[in-house]
Amino acid sequence: MVTPGSGPAPGSRVLLGEIVHFSGDPGDDPQSAAIQHWSDGALWIERGRVRACGARADVLGALQSDPAAAATTIDDQRGRLILPGLIDCHLHYAQVGIMASWGRQLLEWLQNYTFPAELACAAADEAERRAAFVLERLLAHGTTTASVFATVHPHSVDAFMRQADRLGLRMLCGKVMMDRNCPPGLRDSVATNRHEIPRLIADWHGRGRLRYTLTPRFVPTSTPQQLELAGEWYAAVPDLHVQSHLCENAAEIDWVRTLHPQAADYFALYQAAGLAGPRTIYGHCLHLTPRERAALRDTGSAVAFCPTSNLFLGSGVLDAVSLLDEGIAVGLATDIGGGSSLSLIRTLAAAYQHSQLVGRPLAPMRAWYLATLGGARALELQAMVGSFQPGCEGDCVVLDWTAIPELDWRVDQAVTLAERMFALAMLGDERCVHATYIEGNRVGALRVHA
Ligand code: GUN
Ligand code: ZN
Repeated sequence: MVTPGSGPAPGSRVLLGEIVHFSGDPGDDPQSAAIQHWSDGALWIERGRVRACGARADVLGALQSDPAAAATTIDDQRGRLILPGLIDCHLHYAQVGIMASWGRQLLEWLQNYTFPAELACAAADEAERRAAFVLERLLAHGTTTASVFATVHPHSVDAFMRQADRLGLRMLCGKVMMDRNCPPGLRDSVATNRHEIPRLIADWHGRGRLRYTLTPRFVPTSTPQQLELAGEWYAAVPDLHVQSHLCENAAEIDWVRTLHPQAADYFALYQAAGLAGPRTIYGHCLHLTPRERAALRDTGSAVAFCPTSNLFLGSGVLDAVSLLDEGIAVGLATDIGGGSSLSLIRTLAAAYQHSQLVGRPLAPMRAWYLATLGGARALELQAMVGSFQPGCEGDCVVLDWTAIPELDWRVDQAVTLAERMFALAMLGDERCVHATYIEGNRVGALRVHA
């Protein structure tokens, strides 16, 4: 189902168009030096890596003076906006078929919809089918990197990783670990983990652009022994990532308190298992105590901000701006199936609405930072993706301002870049995705509404 691109990997490609990327968090400042912007720009990708990014005349000048670049393909995207590929910091690929399931909050939603959907991935061909579908749809939405929960079945990781590897994608994925408080068909154990997870790490961690992610679902479904085992691997195996959930819903937090009355708080249980630190990312984090916020910051653990899911499941509202201002790494996420769209552009609109409800409006350029470099930083992948710094991997998305008439109209009235970027975040969606490129290769036939 997934197409590997519109042709053989070119040695060298230049995209012409308006370019925006970030060298840091611009905060609230629309003039921040962290905003890299060329209205008449060029992005040169050579052998999959960014060779240069800047004003069109400068980049084309450099190209002409390099005889080795004679065979470069020029893609004229002028009139469109070129951004680094979008980064989704938290999604459950096997849940794609339960998006838009009505009327339940987290714990009931897990029982009624999520666990049955994940049980169906006991069939390997069903896991393959969902992985292919989600990968294709992510690329169609301009998302080129994601931190992905598979299911408890090891073959669900194989299905996702094999297809992501064939596409040459930078992806993170792991087998869900859960050894209590779940249906028997979804329950693993420390004993099964001990042979299944090292095998998955050996097969996928570091292959192509893939990394393995230790994925204990959340405290209620893992015994302390299982969390400790994950903590041992995190400490022992270089570059492993960790993902889980934290403080999403009031009933969930009460349950954690009942299960662990002696614990200081929810995050303390992950800390006790050694699961805090670089390359760890926790979904939601809506109801943190002051101690938990400080501990996230002090340990360098990151937060996956899932605004559509937080609203859809009625979980709460995140003050992401305050977290960022406190120095906590925050990335943006769809949380499919709890979220309501695979589009990180739509997710930005929900992020802004969250921020208005807490009285700390998310600034336009900072919003786009979250969807690109902010996500890469939250996943500690900023040396590879999230910006067009020379040497970074050449994943990008080309957006069309004119694809939606209301957006086109609004952008015509706008004076500043920040105004246009804000309109794009509020009124835009996947219809604006004109093309997606992976390491300089254009992925074919993406425009659903051509
Ligand atoms: N907490 C534990 N599992 C899940 C899940 O699958 N989705 C969400 N949104 N929260 C969870
Ligand atoms: Zn989740």
